[in-house]
Amino acid sequence: MLTADQQIDTAEPTNIVIFGAAGDLSKRKLMPALQRMLCCGLVHEDSRILGVLRNRSREQWIEQLREGFQKYSPDISIDENRWKKFASHLEIVEGTLDDETTYQRLGEALETLGGKKNAMFYCAVPPEWYGAVAQGLHKADLADEEQGYRRLVIEKPFGHNLESARALNTELQSFFDEDQIYRIDHYLGKESVQNLLVYRFANSIMEPLWNRNYVDHIQICASETLGIEYRANYYEKSGALRDMIQSHLMQMMTLVAMEPPVEYTADAVRDEKMKVLRAIRSIKPEQIKLQTVSAQYAAGNIDGEKQNAYVSEENVSPDSTTETFVAVRFYIDNWRWQGVPFILWSGKRMKSKASEVMIRFRKPPFNLFDSHASVPAANALVFRLQPEGGVVLRLNAKKPGLTTDNEEMVMRAPYADETEEVADAYEILMHDVLTGDGTLFSRADEVETSWQIVEPILDAWQDRVSVERYRAGTWDIPAMDELTKDCEGGWHKPTHHK
Ligand code: BG6
Repeated sequence: MLTADQQIDTAEPTNIVIFGAAGDLSKRKLMPALQRMLCCGLVHEDSRILGVLRNRSREQWIEQLREGFQKYSPDISIDENRWKKFASHLEIVEGTLDDETTYQRLGEALETLGGKKNAMFYCAVPPEWYGAVAQGLHKADLADEEQGYRRLVIEKPFGHNLESARALNTELQSFFDEDQIYRIDHYLGKESVQNLLVYRFANSIMEPLWNRNYVDHIQICASETLGIEYRANYYEKSGALRDMIQSHLMQMMTLVAMEPPVEYTADAVRDEKMKVLRAIRSIKPEQIKLQTVSAQYAAGNIDGEKQNAYVSEENVSPDSTTETFVAVRFYIDNWRWQGVPFILWSGKRMKSKASEVMIRFRKPPFNLFDSHASVPAANALVFRLQPEGGVVLRLNAKKPGLTTDNEEMVMRAPYADETEEVADAYEILMHDVLTGDGTLFSRADEVETSWQIVEPILDAWQDRVSVERYRAGTWDIPAMDELTKDCEGGWHKPTHHK
């Protein structure tokens, strides 16, 4: 949890407006985060949370939120007084998103905040509504910043290909200025992801090694044991490439690969990330088979529990070719990274859940020690992003005994010890919106360029009639060994680094 006593900017009183206030995102993530932020003073005491809703009274909404807290955030202990305090900040504005009068009523509600009429508009609604909400706000003059700041927050997916992403950006930018738009990629809100930047740029020993002279290749992964849960309608049209690579993993790649920004400000950081995206070599149609892997989970077993095949999930077509596993081998054509493969992969229903960035260094050029032993393993530096954050360094050391045989030594540094609470991504990101810091949000050009990069792959996979399968709960994807066969250590599967 973030606490206000850390040296961070305090937000001004704000109207926190949630469109889709009774929806899943709101119940699971936004409201628990806001409750914690209010509790520790990260949301100003005079702020209000306005839920835009229909067919519910304020009391019904509050009751539903309370049930949601019990179900999704059992770690938050809410006694009666604390709940009453939180509930006293909650108000509703009734209406539908396509009705102009909803926005007029919202405008009247914003006016009742004392002092400046700041507002954060959070679109926790399906993406097809983003344009309508932005337009509704604009028409009711609520995007105008004369009386206080006005910030619009949207969640991925930002379009489903380059064309739709451009159209969405153009539409949003016709109602709000780019610097009023906050595109959330919740991966960037993870503390361990931000820690990556600190490791890189606050430790001078990293810089000399951080390039093609020392790095053999880099793997960035998000391995999940969950399936698609209740999201078939979205996932069938998305697949793992759109869902994870184009957004979260490419964002992480930019942080790993970018040059040091001149300052830690939104535009300086995003300019450097953009340079990385612009340098990514486009994948030619004839290279797609060589540089990508896709597969779909078949029935299997995870921790002793039987799992259905993807095609047997509710609302999934029985002949679906949607990929639930994806890997792409990218190259960054610039001075620092020429020739270094960046392998990004993500899968659902894998053997274990973990997100990691692994920097694999080159092997020592020859073995000085035992002529009969092979050259020691290539060193690796692993940034463990989740479930538990930390850094792991794999070095070679002498095996105890009379020989100079070596063995791998694993040094682990957890990010936080068990007594320290790590802030939730939504707390960090909403706090940044409230204080106007756009560093951890994707800019329009980043979103469009990353779509442009994956577009040839999307095109190639569009009409395919079959896809490889892997058993749920396994690493049984032989094409991954092929994709990484010239990389030191081959396919890196996240484990507990025992
Ligand atoms: C979401 C994807 O953006 O990220 C999901 O839509 C995925 O499919 C999730 O499961 C992963 O997030 P996390 O934080 O659990 O790694």
